[in-house]
Amino acid sequence: MKILVINGPNLNMLGVREPELYGDKSYKALVKGIKAAAKKYSVSVKCVQSNEEGKIVTYIQRALGKYDAIVINPGAYTHTSVAILDALKAVAIPTWEVHLTDVDNREEFRKVSYVSFVAKRRITGLGFDGYYQAIGEIAVRRKAQDIVDSL
Ligand code: DQA
Repeated sequence: MKILVINGPNLNMLGVREPELYGDKSYKALVKGIKAAAKKYSVSVKCVQSNEEGKIVTYIQRALGKYDAIVINPGAYTHTSVAILDALKAVAIPTWEVHLTDVDNREEFRKVSYVSFVAKRRITGLGFDGYYQAIGEIAVRRKAQDIVDSL
C-alpha cells in the first residue's frame, strides 16, 4: 500500500506563515508526523511539496501505476486549479483532500474547491492530524477491501 502525500504552495512555510492559523510547527515536522502515522498503519508513504501548479500536475501524472492513494493539500490551488482536478481525474487514484484550517468557515473565495469534485474524502480544520487521519482511513479501507477480496 503506497500513498503519495502532495502539499501545494506555501506549505513549505509552515511554522513561519500565519502561525495563528497554521500553527507553529514546520513542514519538516509535518513530514516527520506523516511518516510516523504511515509506520503506525503499516503503509508506505512519500511526501512531496511544490509551489508550482505544473509540478503538482506532474507529480499526480507520475503517480499512475506507482501509488494506491493520494493525500493532497493543494493550498491556494484548491480554489483555482482545474489543471490539478483534471490530473486527478486522469489518473483516477483514490484521493483524500486535506486542509489544515476549516476552509469552509474562512473567506468566501476559500469555499470553492475544485479538488473536491474528485476527492473521496475531505478533511478540514484538524491541523496536522488531518493528514494522519487520512492515512489511517486509507489503510483501514485497504484492509476492508482485502477482506472482501478474500471472501
Ligand atoms: C489551506 C487553505 C488554503 O485556502 C490556503 O490557501 C492554504 C492552506 C489549508 O491547509 O488550510 O495554503 O489549504
